[in-house]
Amino acid sequence: MSRSPFSDLDRPPLNARALNRALVRPGGLWREIRVVEETGSTNTDLAELARTGVEPGLVLVAEAQTSGRGRLGRTWTAPPRSGLFFSVLLPQEDSATRLGWLPLVAGVAVASALRGFAEVEGVERGRMADASLKWPNDVLIGERKLVGILAQRAEAGVVLGIGLNVSLRPDELPVPTATSLAIEGSPTDRDPLLRAILRELAARHEEFRADRASLRAAYRELCATLGRQVRVELPGDEVLTGTAVDVEEAGRLVVRAADGDHLLSAGDVVHVR
Ligand code: BTN
Repeated sequence: MSRSPFSDLDRPPLNARALNRALVRPGGLWREIRVVEETGSTNTDLAELARTGVEPGLVLVAEAQTSGRGRLGRTWTAPPRSGLFFSVLLPQEDSATRLGWLPLVAGVAVASALRGFAEVEGVERGRMADASLKWPNDVLIGERKLVGILAQRAEAGVVLGIGLNVSLRPDELPVPTATSLAIEGSPTDRDPLLRAILRELAARHEEFRADRASLRAAYRELCATLGRQVRVELPGDEVLTGTAVDVEEAGRLVVRAADGDHLLSAGDVVHVR
């Protein structure tokens, strides 16, 4: 079988040179966009690069991952070039609260970028135009997961890893509750999509650094979890049920249960109603 990157015409390769030309600017957040054909996990690689001294602003994109990592110890699997699989190295934050916000900043950036992209492309509502967030940072279309985000601390920075299902067919989905842009009838050209996301991420990161309250307002606006009945699987096999009433100043989800309010900093949320 041909190993040419063009062998799957539905899944053309990314153009690293065009991405760098479009996104790397003097004084901007992004310093370099590296695209590799295959790796284990872009998060693991970028954390290792951070350990060896690379500066924040590096973006590592893989056309395929063999050991993609997900939240809460899960895996992330997808066929080569069927999606966007990338990690960014952001500068260190000076407090645990600010650090805790970065995964939410990424969620706001990706959901906003998808909505903006949909507007430019004239995508009808009910599809990527209505991308929303499930706390902390799954990006949903309706109730189905389109994007997963994994944050991890690294030496001199924070690694944010983003996986977006672009052209996966129904039989390729990792779980039946997932979806892809192709399934949703939305545009599947990965280059402009990656540009839109990285531009929005740089803008939201700047907004967060200047005014956390404004970022929090944007998060609450996009968050489909607020006001919903939820079941939350907590670390250590505990389960909490109640109503999600707020995302507080430190980015924690406030769940109103029979015994009072609980402030959650980690957990797997299921929207019950
Ligand atoms: C989740 O469980 O929802 C988070 C999934 C994050 C997947 C992305 S793909 C690119 C980056 N590299 C990884 O190993 N994981 C993240």
